[in-house]
Amino acid sequence: MALFNQNFLQHDETVFKDELVLDYEYLPHILKFRENQQQHIATIIKPLFAGRMGSNLLITGKPGIGKTAACKHVLREMEQHSEKIIGIYVNCWKQDTAFKVIVDICQQVGYKWVQNKKTNELMDEIAKILNKKAAVIVLDEIDKLKEEQVIYQLVEDISKKCIIMITNEKDFLAILDQRTRSRLIPELLEFNAYKYNEIEAILEERKKFAFYEGVLKEETFAPIVEKCFEEEDIRTGLYLLKEAGNAAENRSSKSISGEDVQKAIGKMAVFQQSKTILDEEEKELLKIIKEHSGESINKIYEIYNEKFSKSDRTFRRKLATLKENKFIEVRDNKELTGETNPRVYLKK
Ligand SMILES: Nc1ncnc2c1ncn2[C@@H]1O[C@H](COP(=O)(O)OP(=O)(O)OP(=O)(O)O)[C@@H](O)[C@H]1O
Ligand SMILES: [Mg+2]
Repeated sequence: MALFNQNFLQHDETVFKDELVLDYEYLPHILKFRENQQQHIATIIKPLFAGRMGSNLLITGKPGIGKTAACKHVLREMEQHSEKIIGIYVNCWKQDTAFKVIVDICQQVGYKWVQNKKTNELMDEIAKILNKKAAVIVLDEIDKLKEEQVIYQLVEDISKKCIIMITNEKDFLAILDQRTRSRLIPELLEFNAYKYNEIEAILEERKKFAFYEGVLKEETFAPIVEKCFEEEDIRTGLYLLKEAGNAAENRSSKSISGEDVQKAIGKMAVFQQSKTILDEEEKELLKIIKEHSGESINKIYEIYNEKFSKSDRTFRRKLATLKENKFIEVRDNKELTGETNPRVYLKK
């Protein structure tokens, strides 16, 4: 009887060599298959190196195809290249008001005296700092910005800059205020989905860094690439690699089986739209809601609390984030059924 089979993990062993490389935020050293796009972004920035005005750029494309990664790469290289240009990156999904955007920029340029100051005052401070040099300002998820006048202000107040906007919305410019649009006049850069062999190569590299040798065999890796290609989103592939690894670990197995991959694919639905904006607890809460859709808020809190022992306030805040981002719906059935406790539903 093989009680201690060597195919099993010991309690302190893991299939992951480096789990961090499967994080959505992880920025690989080389961004393959996006050389042309990075080149285009660099061309927009180039005049700043010579002390001239840069142009602006609007980047569009579907989720998970390297838009953010390409911009961050260019910013990183630019900063290594010159001290004369300041790189700023703002995620407008997280910072969705003019004030929040400006405070974020203040932090990035090292301006600390933000307390009790109004947006306009802070804007003046930023302008003072940035106008000593030149700036590349990336406004990611720009369509989530609730107050677009901040774009206008940045265009007006910063003298030598490139404003790079990223969005999934192809028609973003059309909804922009005419005054802002006519000042921006951005060049357009569209990112296309990756081809099958590109997805395979990208995931192959992550796999190599993430797992110990022999953990994920060719035949079990293929369905992950397949699914990722179907979804056209690299995050799907990263998610599946991680979840399949977790499934193998849960069985204390040293290698990932076809069933582990299928299990991971089965868990996917709930994460399909969840970008980095959701933190781990929010994702867990979403999972709970998926499993208990239609239950009352109190019941959902009970289950959540059992797992995380967090205060009702934290729970409400996380619930609000999920609601705001349209993952869930909270319906008050008071008038219909007289129930006082609203119910939570997963959005289809
Ligand atoms: N060419 C590539 N090489 C290696 N990793 C990549 C490549 N393209 C994308 N990725 C990885 O895929 C994930 C998603 O990429 P990214 O965040 O840039 O997508 P995005 O186009 O900005 O999507 P969204 O519109 O949803 O924000 C990231 O973890 C990123 O590192
Ligand atoms: Mg992005």
